[in-house]
Amino acid sequence: MISPLLSLGSVCVVPRNVHPLGKSQAMLREPFTIADLGPAGDAAIDQAAAQLLEAFPGWMETLAAARNEVRELLAPDHLCLAAFDGEQVLGWVGAIPQYDFAWELHPLVVRADARGRGIGRALVAALEARVAALGALTLYLGTDDDGDTPGTSVGGVDLFPDPLAHAARLEVIDHPAAFYRRLGYVVVGLIPDANGPGKPDVLMAKRVGPAVVRPDAAPGTAGIPDAVLRP
Ligand SMILES: CC(C)(COP(=O)(O)OP(=O)(O)OC[C@H]1O[C@@H](n2cnc3c(N)ncnc32)[C@H](O)[C@@H]1OP(=O)(O)O)[C@@H](O)C(=O)NCCC(=O)NCCS
Repeated sequence: MISPLLSLGSVCVVPRNVHPLGKSQAMLREPFTIADLGPAGDAAIDQAAAQLLEAFPGWMETLAAARNEVRELLAPDHLCLAAFDGEQVLGWVGAIPQYDFAWELHPLVVRADARGRGIGRALVAALEARVAALGALTLYLGTDDDGDTPGTSVGGVDLFPDPLAHAARLEVIDHPAAFYRRLGYVVVGLIPDANGPGKPDVLMAKRVGPAVVRPDAAPGTAGIPDAVLRP
């Protein structure tokens, strides 16, 4: 497990493979720190923008466009957290308050040479804690299955007439949905053909606040009135 050490709004994370004894030097990694990206300034914003361009080549074409994308997430009502090794940005995550009680995670990227060190997991965990502290109950995201070959069982197929049946039995071939599943996110829906024929967006979500159930809810109905269940 990763050990987060909270201090003044930032999270110091020691990767689990750091061990003072018994590990080869090659296995040792520097700790990284998670903090808001904005105060780190223009150089950090440029690094974050470059990572966006590299990870999502079809999304935007120029560093200037990527920089604008990062800057939008620095607005006071948004969140933008980064993992730092000194002045190096190892990865970052943004979030937008789309509903009163649900934030959208968007985007998430870890620098290519820093992947597999627990940075993505730590960024998402830090974001969950931040949005929960702001009153969110749910953190959700869309992760497109829009590659040349399908990354999941819902890519490359006609999802109608029953997209939810496809969502319920979604299997990952090679797709970030597997990463989010490991972090506790579940598939809550699909946007069929969001990125072209057979290229859906996979919607995933996780509860980050307390479960809220109406006090008069009957077991299994989750508070839906009888009149709705049996009109
Ligand atoms: C997806 C991404 C953010 C993961 O970051 P990361 O720092 O490499 O992930 P972590 O090291 O924290 O991995 C956390 C867990 O997820 C698993 N995991 C990571 N990427 C995975 C993938 N693509 N498929 C399956 N599992 C994955 C790891 O094995 C690890 O599992 P464990 O802790 O149970 O052993 C990173 O690969 C990335 O930036 N990719 C390009 C951009 C992208 O796809 N962003 C998400 C789009 S919605």
